[in-house]
Amino acid sequence: MEIRIFDTPEEAGKAAADIIVETVVANPAAVLGLATGATPLPVYREMIRRYEKGDVTFSKTVTFNLDEYSSLPRKAESSYYTFMWSNLFSRIDIDGDNVHILDGCAPDKAAECARFDGMIEEAGGVDVQLLGIGTNGHIGFNEPADEFTGGTFEVKLSQSTRDSNIKYFADGNMPEYALTIGIGTIMKAKKILLMATGESKAKAIYAAVKGEVTPRCPASVLQNHPDAVFLLDKAAAKLLED
Ligand code: GLP
Repeated sequence: MEIRIFDTPEEAGKAAADIIVETVVANPAAVLGLATGATPLPVYREMIRRYEKGDVTFSKTVTFNLDEYSSLPRKAESSYYTFMWSNLFSRIDIDGDNVHILDGCAPDKAAECARFDGMIEEAGGVDVQLLGIGTNGHIGFNEPADEFTGGTFEVKLSQSTRDSNIKYFADGNMPEYALTIGIGTIMKAKKILLMATGESKAKAIYAAVKGEVTPRCPASVLQNHPDAVFLLDKAAAKLLED
């Protein structure tokens, strides 16, 4: 894996956006894997800026989001669907038909997960996958576990994830389950950009980069990916010595 350290979250976000924009300029129909959370916001701001400047069009670009809360209506304020449309999709020229976000309210969750994996495959796989990281080392919603996961599945969220994300639910009513792309699917992406900013991520980054490859720290699997780039600010990189 390649590690790049920046002074600020904005600079790390700009570097991620540069790679995404370059990919889309080279291939307008590129397939992007996108993430939610506070971390990718600088990436999305820069993608919007580059689109408004006329550097890039996303009109043929295809996207797949990593995850979505189970049983939360798409239109709910805290859904990842709402997050993506407010922070990115409504502000660029993407075709809504090319946007794919898991439906956490699908009556048959297993069928929804299989449908999603099928669509990714049909699209030719993900060209660039953007990832954040949880304080417990999770990627997407792949929580620490005894084994690495495979395809898209429904997961019970860990207490650590619930504690970190409860702030996004004004009424304190946070779903206990989520649908997430599995580690196997993430590892099939041609290029992976993991972004982490802030000191609260320093331990998870240390474990992912310097620790053993173990499903107890799901992000450590990226040590085995042929083209994974970690874009970190100084605070998140604090425990990495060299
Ligand atoms: C959620 C998402 C992850 C994200 C993580 C960290 O759990 N499912 O994809 O990486 O939050 O979020 P933040 O960037 O807000 O710290």
